Amino acid sequence: MSNRQNIAPNDLRAFWMPFTANRQFKSAPRMFVAAKDMHYIASDGRKVLDGTSGLWCVNAGHCRPKIVEAIQTQAAEMDYAPAFQMGHPKAFELANRLVDIAPKGLNHVFYTNSGSESVESAIKIAFAYHRVKGEGSRFRIIGRERAYHGVNIGGISIGGITTVRKMFGPGMAGVDHLPHTHLPAKNAFSRGEPEHGAELAMDLEKLVTLHDASTIAAVFVEPVAGSTGVLIPPKGYLKKLREICTKHGILLVFDEVITGFGRLGTPFAADYFDVIPDMITCAKGLTNGTIPMGAVLVTSEIHDAFMTGPDHLIEFFHGYTYSGNPVAAAAGLATLETYKDEGLLTRGAEMARHWEDALHSLKGLPHVIDVRNLGLVGAVELEPIAGAPSKRAFSAFVKAFERGFLIRTTGDIIAMSPPLIVSKAQIDELIGGLGGILKELE
Ligand SMILES: Cc1ncc(COP(=O)(O)O)c(C=O)c1O
Repeated sequence: MSNRQNIAPNDLRAFWMPFTANRQFKSAPRMFVAAKDMHYIASDGRKVLDGTSGLWCVNAGHCRPKIVEAIQTQAAEMDYAPAFQMGHPKAFELANRLVDIAPKGLNHVFYTNSGSESVESAIKIAFAYHRVKGEGSRFRIIGRERAYHGVNIGGISIGGITTVRKMFGPGMAGVDHLPHTHLPAKNAFSRGEPEHGAELAMDLEKLVTLHDASTIAAVFVEPVAGSTGVLIPPKGYLKKLREICTKHGILLVFDEVITGFGRLGTPFAADYFDVIPDMITCAKGLTNGTIPMGAVLVTSEIHDAFMTGPDHLIEFFHGYTYSGNPVAAAAGLATLETYKDEGLLTRGAEMARHWEDALHSLKGLPHVIDVRNLGLVGAVELEPIAGAPSKRAFSAFVKAFERGFLIRTTGDIIAMSPPLIVSKAQIDELIGGLGGILKELE
């Protein structure tokens, strides 16, 4: 690991940081300068235990040799190849390897560069699919309250986090939302899937009655909602959504940008819940966070519906300059190999019990009003300070960083999702450290 220390740029003004309190950050910057396996190195040389896989993406841990080498080799051999009307072998190879680990029936891969782009692409595939099938009246997308589907106009329209939506105009037309499934009065401190709330899926029937199925193209849900603060679906909820979508010819899309690639102890959340959607959007863990890359996995039925008309014509007028970029594809292949070599796509299942017990040991500490978990995802919800929502959790985040732990907060919820290589001792260290901080919070 690099021993560079105390490296900080002398001027922080130019970079307008994303999803960041810029002025607070620049008054007391928190910088990482190196990383290896479960740890970052901060610019003052301190080791910081990564409790969040970066941003839910470094599932195999940091700077893994196979991935680093694949990126270096590919960058030197062929840096870029045109993505339209041309190909290169690794993009095809990676698509095949992805289909190998994808839930049954999801046999085709459309590449993007991020989770947000995967969502936009899936929205467009849904619209175009119905249109090529002669059902162009299906223009409506159903999202869900509190959902996060990235930051582009389609994603924020179908998403349901108010702060992410309210500044940006009316958004995409023809969108409606299911209720979220967070029922703390009934489900607080649930271990794993909560007992109550499956009936909330029946609200989809109400929306079908309101809008008519013939106007609805797709339902988008995160199987486990992450960015809004880890909302685990009630038992049976996703199965009910699947049944209703199938009954009405509506596509079901799982946004697996955070749940994909082993987070729940299965390759995808679809496997965990035994519910096969028509499309899966993914990104993040696809390249272990190294090179931006996302993908939409689609069924043969969807893909094949486009493969009509004269052979020389483009079937789907959509794509990105960097779709299937060679360096990203090399990173993706090496990432999938690393997952396979080390059994990481299912390791979460072995660690889930220890993770759950550790997290729930925080019950009873000051301000803790809920703890929830599934696979290697967990959240601790704090009682907000009256009149200052999110302040308490933010000070936990800053204190944690100072003590050598990276956690993530959204509102007054602390969310954690460590790399899938985490040891039991590191889980205890992380949760023990957090417990100490919670005892000190105002
Ligand atoms: C479920 C979900 N969808 C989409 C996104 C957006 O991904 P990106 O930040 O790569 O655009 C995220 C990011 O956290 C996510 O959690």
